[in-house]
Amino acid sequence: MTRLADKVAIITGAGGGIGLAYARRFLAEGARVMVADIGEEQGRAAIDQLVDEGVAAGDVRFVKTDIADETSVSACFAATLEQFETVDILVNNAAIYADYNGSDHSLEYLRAMFDVNLHGQWLMARAVAPHLVAQRWGRIINVGSIAGYLHQLAQFSSPPEFELSSYAYQQTKWGVLGLTRHMAGQLGQYNVTVNCIAPGLTTTAATEKQVPTEFQPVFAQMSAMQRNPAPEHMVGAAVFFASGDADLVNGQILVVDGGNIMPV
Ligand SMILES: NC(=O)c1ccc[n+]([C@@H]2O[C@H](COP(=O)([O-])OP(=O)(O)OC[C@H]3O[C@@H](n4cnc5c(N)ncnc54)[C@H](O)[C@@H]3O)[C@@H](O)[C@H]2O)c1
Repeated sequence: MTRLADKVAIITGAGGGIGLAYARRFLAEGARVMVADIGEEQGRAAIDQLVDEGVAAGDVRFVKTDIADETSVSACFAATLEQFETVDILVNNAAIYADYNGSDHSLEYLRAMFDVNLHGQWLMARAVAPHLVAQRWGRIINVGSIAGYLHQLAQFSSPPEFELSSYAYQQTKWGVLGLTRHMAGQLGQYNVTVNCIAPGLTTTAATEKQVPTEFQPVFAQMSAMQRNPAPEHMVGAAVFFASGDADLVNGQILVVDGGNIMPV
């Protein structure tokens, strides 16, 4: 399994959850990986875990990164070049999900969510894009969510005293779909593709915290395959987008949820 041999990938939010699963599989496919996460302790623990599992220490590195901060994003890109001398793939996986507060409908909070979940992806892409364009090869994989499609869930976010809820997480994830298409439209001419994975309700520690236990089987029942994904179900889609098999696949959104959302 070396579909990503000689490639260098930055994977944001890879300190745990689905991001760590992407990192593990990318390494197994021959890539070298920069784990970029705001959580230093968990990011370093993820590196230790991967090395314990047999990954060569030189193939995976951690850089503390806040994707919403321009200086931090530039430092992440610079650290990757310094460590691995190039960047080929960006997986824009980091988001405020585990710590999402669905009952805060203030404008400040909405802006903070967009700063990370949407603008953070744009900042990371903006940092790496000139390099990818110059080498005339690059892959950007954004992470959306089926939440971006499930507009009817907004009925559950109505505050007791009526005010228009922000449903910030869903708005940002819908935005990721549009950002993907915009970037794909611009970067395709340089042999840089931009695609998006939209995971279904995936069993991670963040989901256990965010989604009430009794609600999780409901999601499974909404899916044609009657089960919720695990992080490992997402990694094949990421490898596909990053590999030569997807050379002409650009601007696409791949929903991985066993057949709940079936976009036209
Ligand atoms: N788990 C699910 O059910 C599910 C469903 C659909 C989409 N997603 C998306 O998949 C991705 C991963 O989800 P997860 O379940 O592993 O969540 P998670 O909360 O475990 O992982 C998110 C990671 O992003 C990091 N992060 C948060 N803010 C950051 C910032 N400003 N800069 C850098 N890193 C930051 C966190 O430290 C964490 O490691 C997210 O984009 C999430 O929205 C998850």
